[in-house]
Amino acid sequence: MKKIFLLFLIIISLKSFSQSDFSIIPAPVSLTPAEGYFQFDNTTYLLANDFESFKDASSARYLFIQYYQLPIKVATKKIGEGKQILVKYDSTLNIPDEGYELIVTENAITITGKNKGGVSHGLMSLLQLIENPTTRNYKIPCCKIIDYPRFSYRGMHLDCARHFFDVDFIKKYIDYLALYKYNTFHWHLTDDQGWRIEIKQYPKLTEIGAWRNGNMIGHYREQQFDTIRYGGYYTQKEIKEIIKYAEARNITIIPEIEMPGHCLAALASYPDYGCVADTTYEVGKAWGVYPDVFCPKEETFIFLENILSEVIELFPSEYIHIGGDEVEKIRWKNSAFCQQLMKGKNLKDENELQSYFIQRIEKYVNSKGKKLIGWDEILEGGIAPNATIMSWRGEEGGIKAAQQNHFAIMTPSNYCYFDHYQGSPQNEPLAIGGYTPIEKVYSYEPIPAQLSVEEAKYILGAQGNVWTEYIAETYQVEYMAIPRMLALSEVLWSQKEKKDFYDFADRLLLQFELLRRIDCNFSTSIFDIKYKILPAKEDDGLYVELTGLKNFQIAYQFLYPKDESFKIYTTPFKINSTSIIYAHLDHEYYGQGIEFKLKFNRATGKKISLTNPSSNKYSGDGPFTLVNGVDAITWRTWRGNEWLGFEGINCEAIIDLGKEDTISIITVGYLEDKMSWIWIPNSIEIFISDDGKNFTPVNKINSEDIKRNYRNIMIGTDQENPETVNGRFVKIKIENYGIIPSGNPGAGNKAWLFVDEISIE
Ligand code: ACM
Repeated sequence: MKKIFLLFLIIISLKSFSQSDFSIIPAPVSLTPAEGYFQFDNTTYLLANDFESFKDASSARYLFIQYYQLPIKVATKKIGEGKQILVKYDSTLNIPDEGYELIVTENAITITGKNKGGVSHGLMSLLQLIENPTTRNYKIPCCKIIDYPRFSYRGMHLDCARHFFDVDFIKKYIDYLALYKYNTFHWHLTDDQGWRIEIKQYPKLTEIGAWRNGNMIGHYREQQFDTIRYGGYYTQKEIKEIIKYAEARNITIIPEIEMPGHCLAALASYPDYGCVADTTYEVGKAWGVYPDVFCPKEETFIFLENILSEVIELFPSEYIHIGGDEVEKIRWKNSAFCQQLMKGKNLKDENELQSYFIQRIEKYVNSKGKKLIGWDEILEGGIAPNATIMSWRGEEGGIKAAQQNHFAIMTPSNYCYFDHYQGSPQNEPLAIGGYTPIEKVYSYEPIPAQLSVEEAKYILGAQGNVWTEYIAETYQVEYMAIPRMLALSEVLWSQKEKKDFYDFADRLLLQFELLRRIDCNFSTSIFDIKYKILPAKEDDGLYVELTGLKNFQIAYQFLYPKDESFKIYTTPFKINSTSIIYAHLDHEYYGQGIEFKLKFNRATGKKISLTNPSSNKYSGDGPFTLVNGVDAITWRTWRGNEWLGFEGINCEAIIDLGKEDTISIITVGYLEDKMSWIWIPNSIEIFISDDGKNFTPVNKINSEDIKRNYRNIMIGTDQENPETVNGRFVKIKIENYGIIPSGNPGAGNKAWLFVDEISIE
C-alpha cells in the first residue's frame, strides 16, 4: 500500500514537473527544479550588467507588460533593496552559441547569456515560467536551467506579397519568433501578385507593382475573381524601423527579392525587362505560376543589381534570398535573344541559362559582401559557387546541396509549410491544400538519414513557411502559424533525444493560456480527434480507431444509423455497414468535434495490393486507403492522408473480392488540382480475373470520358444500362498524366496522380 502511495506521489510530482511549473517551449536542454518560488513584488527590476543585456532586457520588458501587465523596470545600477533579475553576458560561459544559464532562487534571478541572443532567450524562458497570472500574484518556481540550441538557423517565413500585412503585425510576428527562440525572419517581399518594398531608383515598382485590380475568390481551381483593388508596400523608413525592432530581439531578417520568375509585379512596372517586346503586363490576380519571367539582358541585370544594392544597403543580414523557384522557361525558349545568348555562352538548355542568371546575380551579391540563398531549383543547371539552398520540394535539394558541400536550410513542404491544412478540413478555413498537422511538424528531423556526419554539418537548420494566397488577414496568419511554429521551434532548438510529443502537448496547453492573454488567434486543431480505419481480419467489415490527446476522453456517437447516445471510446470498434460517426475530445474549451462517413460497397475492407507503391509523401494508410470506406473526394478539399499520391507513375490496384462476384460499375476517386501539380488520369482500364494471375480487359476509358463521367466506369458501352461480368479479382489501372505541360504550375515536372476510394458495385 505504501509503495503504491509512493508511486502515486512520484507520478503526481513528475506530472507537475512537466505540466504546470515548467512549460517552456522549446524544451530546454537541462532543467533542475528546486524548492520554493521567486515572488514578484513592486520592487522587482531587471538589472542589466552590460549594453547588450540592457538591449535584450528593454525589448523583453514590453512582453512582460503585454502578457502580464507587469510594468517591470530595466536599470543599469542596483536600485536600493529591490528584488533583482540580473541579466548579463559572459563569453567564457562553457556552453554553445546563443546559450544561456538561468538560475531562479527565492531572492534573486540571474540570467547569463553566452553571446548574441543568449540573454534574450533566457528572458523568454523566464516569461514562460511566470505562474498564476490570474491573481497578479506573479511567481516563478525555483530552478536552474542550462540551455542552448541544436541548430544555428531557426527560421520563420512570411509571404507579404500575396497579401500585405502592416508594420504593427510584422512586429507582433517578430515577437512570436523571439518568444519561441527563432533567430531568423525570412521576409518574402516580391512576387507576381505584388511588389512590397520601396525602391528609390524605381518608384513604379510600388506605384504600379504594389497594386492589383482584383483578387481570387475561393480556391484557385474555381477561377473566380473580384474586382477590388488590393495592395500596399513598406517604405524604406518602415523597413528600417522593422529591422531595428527585429535586431533588438536578436532576429535577423532575410529579405527575398524574387527572380528570374515570380516577377510579374515588377514586369507590370517595368515591362522592358521581360522577353517579349512591346507588351504590357498586369500585376497578377490569380495565384499560381506565370510564364513571364525576367529576360537575361544586360539592362535587366543592371535593373536587378540596382534594386539589390538598395536592398543590401537596408538589410544588415549576411544573406540575401533571390528566390529562383518555379521559373517557367517558355519565354526563354521563344526568345531569339535568349537562344543566341545560350549559343554564345555555350549553355546547353534553359536550365543552364537559369544557372547563368543566378550565378551572375550571385557574383554581384558576393561583391557586396553578402551571401546568396535560393530555393532548391537553383541546383538545376549547376549550383552557383557559394549559394545556400533552401530545400522546399522535399529534402532532396538539401541533400544534394550538402553532398556538394553547400549549406542548406530545410523547408520541405510536407513538414514545414504552414499554409497547409492542419486539422480536419470540415472544421478548417479554406487553405491551399496539403495536410500537415502539428504532430507531423513535431516529428520532423532536419538532418536527412542519407547524409554522413561531415555532410550533415551543411544543414544549418530549418524554417516554417507561411505562404499567404489563402491567408488575407493577420488573425489567419496567427491561426496557420501557431502552434505549428512552436512544434518546429522544439525541432530546431531542443535536443533530439528529448523530443516527446505528448509532453510537448502538455506544455502547449499552458502556452495557450499565455497566448490567450494577448488575443492570439492560435489553432486548436491539436484537440481534433483523428480516426484510422483498419481492415477486419475476417474481411467482413472495418474497425474504427479513434485517437486524441492523451489524458482526455473521447466521446462518439452514430449520426447514421441514428443513435442519440454518446459512447466513451475505449478500443477500436467494428462496423459492417455505411455509417456516419461524430467524435469529440472531452475538453472544457477546445473539444471541437469531427464527423466522418464510412461508405460500404463490395470492395470495402477487401484485400488490395498495388503493383507500384505510392510515393512515401502521400501514402495514407497504404493500399488499404483505397478501400477503407472513406471517400476523400467528399472532403471540401484534398486531405493528404486519405489520398495515395503517385509522382509520374501509374496506379495499378488489384482487389480480391474473396469469392466470385458480379460486377457492373467501378468507381475511382481521383483529384484535379493543377495548382498543386495534381492532374487527372489519362485513362482508366479495368481487368477481371478468377485466379489473380490471368486478367481479361473489360473496359477502358480515356481522359475525355474521365472528364465527362468524372469517376464511374460502367461495364459495357451503354452508360445507362451497364452490363455485368463475373470474377473474383479486379485490376484497376489508372494512368498518370505524365509531364506537366508548359503554362501550368510545375510545368516540365512529373504530374502527380492522386487516387482514393475505389468502389465496386
Ligand atoms: C515555393 O514554395 N514556391 C518556394
